[in-house]
Amino acid sequence: MKSKPQDIGAVMADGRRILRPEWTQWRHEDTGQGRGEKPPETDYAYNCSETGIALPKPDLESLGRKTFAECAENRMSIRKYSKAALTRDELSFLLWETAKIKQQRNEWSRRPIPSAGGRHCLKTYIYIDRVEGIPQGIYVYLPDEHELRLVSDEDGQKDKLCKALYDQDFDSAVIFLWSAVPRIMEYRYSSVAHKMIAMEAGHICQNLHLAAEAIECGCCAISAYYQADVDELVRVDGEEEFVIYAATIGKKRE
Ligand SMILES: Cc1cc2nc3c(=O)[nH]c(=O)nc-3n(C[C@H](O)[C@H](O)[C@H](O)COP(=O)(O)O)c2cc1C
Repeated sequence: MKSKPQDIGAVMADGRRILRPEWTQWRHEDTGQGRGEKPPETDYAYNCSETGIALPKPDLESLGRKTFAECAENRMSIRKYSKAALTRDELSFLLWETAKIKQQRNEWSRRPIPSAGGRHCLKTYIYIDRVEGIPQGIYVYLPDEHELRLVSDEDGQKDKLCKALYDQDFDSAVIFLWSAVPRIMEYRYSSVAHKMIAMEAGHICQNLHLAAEAIECGCCAISAYYQADVDELVRVDGEEEFVIYAATIGKKRE
């Protein structure tokens, strides 16, 4: 779906403003947190099935044994994959190393990626095409339970998603789609929150790149997509939650 034509100059000026927020005008007392309001919570499971697919805790002794230097040196964007499916353990590893909650204290949590104020305002959706033992469909990841919940498995979903990604699905085994829930970051950072949200998205995708490399998978970040179409596919409203970044994953070709 194409959106209305925009005043490109004004949009670019807005974009630059977001990248250099006015910290001098940010005041704690003007934020939800400063006013003592109840912190907003991320609802990970409002748009999905009630039952989940529990993922195994990844066996870090056998998966991902490559060194950091090997992963960082070899990482590159890969857009051609083998037809092989990922194992459930490999998928579990990718989710564990990008989004699993390791420690939670009130609204602060520790996860594999840094987040301003420990807020963590991203959610992970995945489209599964080829993972052993998991049916095709769009799932949301529950980062506390380490579990997937089905969002949708409607017919023609793969084609719709591919079109929504400007035909950039690259016949991958799995597509990660990260959404942002801005109010989580705005509660503490109000007018300076939005740059932090974008930075957090960069962190999660970089972890995915390195984790993929560790298990001989290829990865490619995707930022070009039709916003409304992708939001509709993952069943979010496009205002309070919207997709901010995506990445394809597949086993490397021999
Ligand atoms: C924010 C961002 C958005 C990107 N969006 C796309 C995209 O929509 N489609 C694509 O094929 N590659 C995309 N890429 C991958 C870049 O094209 C790639 O990182 C760049 O060509 C450098 O190659 P390398 O990753 O192999 O070092 C994106 C990368 C970043 C960091």
